[in-house]
Amino acid sequence: MDIWHLRGGNRLEGSCFVQGSKNASLPIIAASIISPAATELLNVPQLRDVDAALRILRHLGCTAEQWGGEVYIDSQALCRSEIPHSLMVEMRSSVIFMGALIARCGGARLSLPGGCQLGKRPIDLHLAALRQMGAEIEEAGGEINCRAEGLHGEEIFLPFPSVGATENIMLAAARARGDTVIHGAAREPEIVALQDYLKAIGLEVAGAGTDTVSIGCFRPEKAVSHRIIPDRIVASTIACAAAATGGNVEMRGVDPAHFSTVLHFLKSAGCDIINSNRSVRVKAPARLKAVGELETRPYPGFPTDAQPVLMAALLRAEGRTVITENIFENRYRQVPELQRLGADIAVSGRRAEIWGVDCLRGAALTATDLRGGAAMIVAALAARGESTIFDDGHITRGYERFDMRLRSLGADIYLEC
Ligand code: EPZ
Repeated sequence: MDIWHLRGGNRLEGSCFVQGSKNASLPIIAASIISPAATELLNVPQLRDVDAALRILRHLGCTAEQWGGEVYIDSQALCRSEIPHSLMVEMRSSVIFMGALIARCGGARLSLPGGCQLGKRPIDLHLAALRQMGAEIEEAGGEINCRAEGLHGEEIFLPFPSVGATENIMLAAARARGDTVIHGAAREPEIVALQDYLKAIGLEVAGAGTDTVSIGCFRPEKAVSHRIIPDRIVASTIACAAAATGGNVEMRGVDPAHFSTVLHFLKSAGCDIINSNRSVRVKAPARLKAVGELETRPYPGFPTDAQPVLMAALLRAEGRTVITENIFENRYRQVPELQRLGADIAVSGRRAEIWGVDCLRGAALTATDLRGGAAMIVAALAARGESTIFDDGHITRGYERFDMRLRSLGADIYLEC
C-alpha cells in the first residue's frame, strides 16, 4: 500500500521536466516483437506498467531491460505466443500484445486484460477487425485463442476511434498479405508515435494523426533507436496542480500541441499560458474562474484522462462548471473522495456539476484509479491542512517519482511505500 502524505496550501512554483509517455511506451514495447530487430527506447518512464510490459516480453523469451529512462529489447529468441493471466491482468494495454504476436507468430493465446475500472471496457472492435483480416478467434472463460496464419490486408471501418483497436490493427497488419486501411482511426499523439516507431523498424505506414491510417509492406531493419514522446497527461496534471494552487510553473520538454485543449480551459479559468520552444508556463491567479461547460472527446477533443485532474483544479473556482464524460461510463470515481475535502459536486449519469467552494480542507482519502488518484493529489495540494491518500499502487502506475517532482516545485508531499 502506498500512502501519500500531503499538507496543502503551498503555491507550486518553478520549473520541471515532464516524463516520457506511458501510453506511448506500452504499445511500442509490444510492437518491438514484430520483427527480430533490436530496439533501444529512450525517455521511457520508470513505472509499474512499463515493468509489467517488460515482464511479458521476458516471458515470451525476449531479452528486455530498463536502465533509467532507457529500455533495451532483443526479441530474436522469442519462443512463445501465449501470455498467462497473471501477466495480462496487470494492465489494459497488455491486449496490444495480441496484434504484435499475430504479426510475429501467426497467433496468440491470452486472457482478457486488466487496467483501471472505468466501466465496461470491451475489446469487440479489436476482435471484429482481426476477424475481418482472417483471424480465427475463440473466446471462452475469459481466454482468447487467436489463430491467424494467413492474415490478409483489409479496409476496416471503426465505428468509434478506439486507441487500443487502432494500435492492435496497425500491429497485426504489419505482417498481413496486402495493404490494410483503417477508416475512423484514433488520432491521438500516441498513434503518431507508434507510426514513427513502426516506420523506423521498416514498416510502410502512413496517415497516423488523421482518421485514415494505411499499412503496407514490411522490410525489417536490423536495429532501431526511438525516443518516447513526452506524457501529455502528466503535463496536464502538473498544469492543473499549478492552477489549483495559484502557482507559476514551467513544464519543460513537452509538446504544447498535445494538450492544447487542457491549456485552453486553464486559460478560460484565468491562467496565463506562455508557450515557447518545447515548454509551457502556467501562471495562475489566486482564485480560478469556473469554465462553463466542457466535454471529453477522442483526440483532438478534451482528453478523458485529464478530466479528473481538471475537475480537481476547478473545485475552488468561482462559479459553476459542468463536465460531460463521453468516453468512459465510470470516470467519476474520484468524486466521493473529493467531496471529503469539502468539494461541491453533483453527478448525474455522464454529467458532473461543480460549484466552486471558498475552501477545501484536508482529509483521509482512498485512490480509486490512476487519474482519479492524481486528481486527489491536485485537490489535496489546494486544500488547507493535512491529507492522506491510501493508494493500492494506482498512481505510481502512471506517474514517475511524482512526490519528488511536486516537492521540487514547493509542494509539501511525501510518499510512504
Ligand atoms: C487508451 O485506452 C488509454 N490507455 C487510456 O488511458 C485512455 O483513457 C483511452 O485510450 C482513451 O483516450 C492506453 O493507451 C494504455 P479506447 P483504450 O479503446 O485503448 C470503448 C490512462 O489513464 N471501446 O479508445 O482502452 C471503451 O469501452 C488510461 O492512462 C469499445 O467499446 O481506450 C471506451 O469506452 C485509462 N470496444 C472507449 O471505447 C472496443 O473494442 C475508449 O476506449 C474498444 C473500446
